[in-house]
Amino acid sequence: MIALPMSLTRRIFLQKLGIGTLGLGIGAVAPTVVCANNTPRIGFPFDPIAPSTEDDLVLPKGYQYQVIRAWGDKITSKDRFGFNCDFTAFFPFVGSNSQEALLWVNHEYTALPGSNLYEVTFPPVVGGTPSVEDHKTDTGGSVLHLRFDGRANRWEFLESSQYNRRITASPAGRPQLIEADGPVVRDVFERHNVDGLGRQIHGTSMNCGGAQTPWGTVLSAEEHFQANVPEEVDFDGRGKVGGGNVLNFNRLGSKYGWVVEIDPFDPHSMPVKHTALGRFRHENVALWARDGKPVVCYMAEDRSQGHAWKFISRDIYRRGAQNRTKNKSLLSEGRLYVARFEPSGEGRWIALDPETEVNPVKGAQVPQVRGGANKLGQVYSTFGAILVDAFHAANLSGGTPIPYPEDVEFNPVDGSVYFAIGGGSGGSDPVLFKPQLGQIWKLTESTDAPDSGRFQWTPFSISGGVPGSGGYSNPDNLLFDFKGNLWVATDMHTKSMNDRKHPAGHFGNNGLFVIPTAGSHKASQFASGPCEAELTGPCFTPDETTLFISVQHPGEGYGIRDGQKVNAPQGSNWPAKQLGKAPRPAVVAVYRS
Ligand code: FEO
Ligand code: CA
Ligand code: CA
Ligand code: CA
Repeated sequence: MIALPMSLTRRIFLQKLGIGTLGLGIGAVAPTVVCANNTPRIGFPFDPIAPSTEDDLVLPKGYQYQVIRAWGDKITSKDRFGFNCDFTAFFPFVGSNSQEALLWVNHEYTALPGSNLYEVTFPPVVGGTPSVEDHKTDTGGSVLHLRFDGRANRWEFLESSQYNRRITASPAGRPQLIEADGPVVRDVFERHNVDGLGRQIHGTSMNCGGAQTPWGTVLSAEEHFQANVPEEVDFDGRGKVGGGNVLNFNRLGSKYGWVVEIDPFDPHSMPVKHTALGRFRHENVALWARDGKPVVCYMAEDRSQGHAWKFISRDIYRRGAQNRTKNKSLLSEGRLYVARFEPSGEGRWIALDPETEVNPVKGAQVPQVRGGANKLGQVYSTFGAILVDAFHAANLSGGTPIPYPEDVEFNPVDGSVYFAIGGGSGGSDPVLFKPQLGQIWKLTESTDAPDSGRFQWTPFSISGGVPGSGGYSNPDNLLFDFKGNLWVATDMHTKSMNDRKHPAGHFGNNGLFVIPTAGSHKASQFASGPCEAELTGPCFTPDETTLFISVQHPGEGYGIRDGQKVNAPQGSNWPAKQLGKAPRPAVVAVYRS
């Protein structure tokens, strides 16, 4: 790491990100927003906690949490807060000193194979039996208008604010048609028009991670769409209308699995799916924007044989409110690359385009291609068709298959990129991946600019170790604080958590850990989640006095804890904390008591 004074280092990196003293003119409807970077930061010093099996969000001494909204809570007269909240992004209003903001929250999934928490808790929380239209209602995202009441030391949700909004997967009673942009519109959606909607799409769903752009929008990543719609497409990029491996959304599958951009400051704005960033099981986005340069997005694909990705925009980013409209179209055209990791610690970015050679890694999952096809352009009919089938195209091109890539983030101190890898070997390159409990890799581009074609990589942290003494298992969500400490939320599978026969069964409930990137990389535990929950999507306020975090799927294994489930940890009653009450996913604020 370069030994620069923190203030200087930070200024350089903020210039790299392009989030200096940005002011965004949002028009008459919305006030101006800054991604405030010059607020003095306080940070989160703490004495680490021990692993816990308590059915609560356990925090270090001196910290408290407040539930902001839980699943089923009203957020407008017509809309409820969705299920399984995930990624959060905090958009402070200008001059509010981080005390008033819009908070974006993703709602990831309602149902995955082996998870029936939604069905079990729907009757007591919402009432009745959930229909597929309820599932469409409870995924997507929420915009919440918040204000901090200093006297009460509490965050307030402003119930009647015009900004409060739900983005959904467009249920029948309350449809939301949104749009796609980029090469797939031209090459696939309009050319083949399987569902008759052209570039239009019924909403968004399975929204896992994401990013906050310096022009004041949010990017939300559609992850396990295969649960709701058909995943397969043909070599023209043509998908099918129907259902997935859990639910039947009866929608065109090729229209899900994208990154969608939403403007929280305009409640009437239409979200846009950026097809130039490829269609795959998108975990999240880490975005790099510097004045006068193209925008770069690092992305991860969460699946067995998933990949690490990079997108470079065709057009350049310009700071300032006057460029906001132009910046909102930056992700509509560019080049998409997949990472090839070599055991030597070197790596390169392979562009996915018609001229790319077919040269798969041994064992990679590839489609049957016609004999003699040795370029992607001889396998797929158009560039857009390559982007729709990006997972297979990446494997055909020699991208490294990785076992369950999770979050990606930049280190604000030196600009390096960190990838969490969930765990297992997952049928991936056996030279690079041994069966284990997950790891975090650090990637450094070979030249100063992230549009470099080559990189170096190194393992930064390997999971496992001693519970309560630096050990943790299955890293998932990542977040850097302003000092360059890496915050890591774990996602031990509900079935392995607290199962003493499983290697991950000794770490208590899922938690939130902090790993310094300088000196020792020893993890310290900051938080422990309720039973059978996962802590997801953490974000700090710019002054680092509040940490927002989602508590996802409490009670996922055994549902509602009652008098029969006394052998804790089995089931959950969080956040009500009363035996027999349904557990509910919720977004919380964590701050000093
Ligand atoms: Fe939605 Fe891969 O976590
Ligand atoms: Ca994740
Ligand atoms: Ca993150
Ligand atoms: Ca997860």
